[in-house]
Amino acid sequence: AQRIPVAMGHIEGVPLLGSTCDAWDSIYNFQARGDDILIATFPKSGTTWMQEIVDLILQEGDAQKGRRAPTYIKVPFIDLVPPKPRPIGVELAQTMKSPRVLKTHLPINLLPPSFWEKNVKAVYVARNAKDCMVSYYYFHKMNKMLPPPGTWENYFSAFLSGDVPWGSWFDHVIGWGKAMDKHQILFIFYEDMIEDPMREIRKVMKFLGKDLSDEVLENIKYHTSFQAMKENPMTNNSTISNAVMDQTISPFIRKGTVGDWKTHFSVAQNIIFDEEYKKKMEGSGLNFRTEL
Ligand code: PPS
Repeated sequence: AQRIPVAMGHIEGVPLLGSTCDAWDSIYNFQARGDDILIATFPKSGTTWMQEIVDLILQEGDAQKGRRAPTYIKVPFIDLVPPKPRPIGVELAQTMKSPRVLKTHLPINLLPPSFWEKNVKAVYVARNAKDCMVSYYYFHKMNKMLPPPGTWENYFSAFLSGDVPWGSWFDHVIGWGKAMDKHQILFIFYEDMIEDPMREIRKVMKFLGKDLSDEVLENIKYHTSFQAMKENPMTNNSTISNAVMDQTISPFIRKGTVGDWKTHFSVAQNIIFDEEYKKKMEGSGLNFRTEL
């Protein structure tokens, strides 16, 4: 089927969806509350996984309560304005009772200032850029809210130069990484979550000031595992119609591994990537693993 072209726009030089740009005033002026919990990521970095972890921590591991609604309803995505009557962004957030958990992909310089005015706690999840790029490429293919990715070669260049929705992966992770000095930000690596989910879930629990038993944490780990989330209709986005996300092209919960880039990057692309990475990330203090 023919895809309807998706308009793109820019805010302060950052490429964003046209619908986000059109609603920018209401997004930027969003009123955070002091007990909000913000989950911030560059796209495809493990956002949904962290959304479920945080929600289940707040529900004290009660998986039934976790299934009360799809992830995107439980945790409003404040910078998305979807093409459907049901509000899921700022409008939904405004109607929610506290404590709210909110999602954003915004680079830190575009985050609504009220989050810092209210000293909101933020969990930032970062994933190595190579796997992020591969995951995003498949997401562009299946998600009709995004522009089609073009060929892998084209997408590789676009991602590297930051010409994809929400902009440059490099600027994103560096910006949020630096902000840890000033704000209450817990910085979590996707690769660490894969390596030892219990350890990372416990970090999040402590950051949120909760104290849950090992049994409860084990339960949270179980219900947020790749397989459990892939099969759970509340977390796998199967409640979203094929016209918006066509999971026959690529499932939303796709592979969930570290190192899938190796089956996509050519040798030449890997050299180009590593050179660019070195230039951009030198002195950032951030150490990403691209394999475990
Ligand atoms: S989005 O659209 O930006 O919110 O996507 P996001 O949730 O950030 O990222 C999707 C990728 O995360 C993988 N995923 C998981 N990996 C491991 N364990 C669990 N539970 C899990 N849930 C989601 C998902 O499969 C996407 O990565 P890829 O590499 O495409 O599989």
